[in-house]
Amino acid sequence: MKVANSITEIRDIVVGFKKELKTIALVPTMGNLHCGHLALVEEAKKVADRVVVSVFVNPMQFDRAEDLKSYPRTLENDLALLEKAGVDAVFTPTPEIMYPQGLNFQSYIEVPDLCNSLEGALRPGHFRGVATVVSKLFNIVQPDFACFGLKDYQQVALIKEMVRDLNFQLKIVEVPIVRYEDGLAYSSRNNLLNQAERSIAPLLNKSLKALAEKLVTAKTLDEVNRLVDETCNLLDNKGFRTDDITVVDALTLNPEIAGSKKVVILASAYLGKVRLIDNLVVDRQ
Ligand code: PAJ
Repeated sequence: MKVANSITEIRDIVVGFKKELKTIALVPTMGNLHCGHLALVEEAKKVADRVVVSVFVNPMQFDRAEDLKSYPRTLENDLALLEKAGVDAVFTPTPEIMYPQGLNFQSYIEVPDLCNSLEGALRPGHFRGVATVVSKLFNIVQPDFACFGLKDYQQVALIKEMVRDLNFQLKIVEVPIVRYEDGLAYSSRNNLLNQAERSIAPLLNKSLKALAEKLVTAKTLDEVNRLVDETCNLLDNKGFRTDDITVVDALTLNPEIAGSKKVVILASAYLGKVRLIDNLVVDRQ
């Protein structure tokens, strides 16, 4: 497995792959890897000849300095996991390499409807930072495929829209959420939960499942809102601080769901200082 710290190094590696006429799948990550990330790697191996993983904690997408500071960084362990998983190359740039201009950086990518709604409304600048770094990674690595997890549902929708709008020549591969047996979705933030919080955490997924069952037959928007409020209250009574639970159309992410056959519940909730997110797609009658 090759490890590249600089843009020149990863480009040289990619040129090598392309000379051998190998297709390339990119898996963008922020490191602190777990089974969720490794599922993306497995999918990448299925669709392409060569797999490149990027490990970069992107300062531009953090809306809280404290969150950026506390984000777990475990590069050595990550590299060992990626080597074992059969990855061909890893790109591990520093912020100075990705943003040499520092605060003078100018060229942001924005997809306003998707960047500023839902999760984006709660985390100003977050999705602009994601779209910008992902487009930089696409330009640097020039992959044929890029794999993203449905754990970050709005992120996938945003990247797909960006790829369409800007004619990036690659296919986005969507990978289902990987969960612990108790239903909690794997996340780097889980490591920041204390024991008591970890034991409560699976309730987030459990309550979304219960809500999903009721949503199948909910007729009016009022009914949907009442069910969502009930879920928020239940979580808050069990020790969460619900940030947001919203039901939107699964394709457009539009809250007008009267005629939607497929909706998605998007949820975010704090346990102590840790913000967990989860989602569940629901087929309606
Ligand atoms: P990160 O949170 O490290 O996640 C990297 C990728 O792993 C994302 O596509 C995410 O959806 C996926 N992932 C994380 N947990 C998952 C799980 N339990 N099941 C399935 N997939 C999971 O998302 C980011 O980094 C960044 O925003 C990034 C796209 C790298 C841009 O900086």
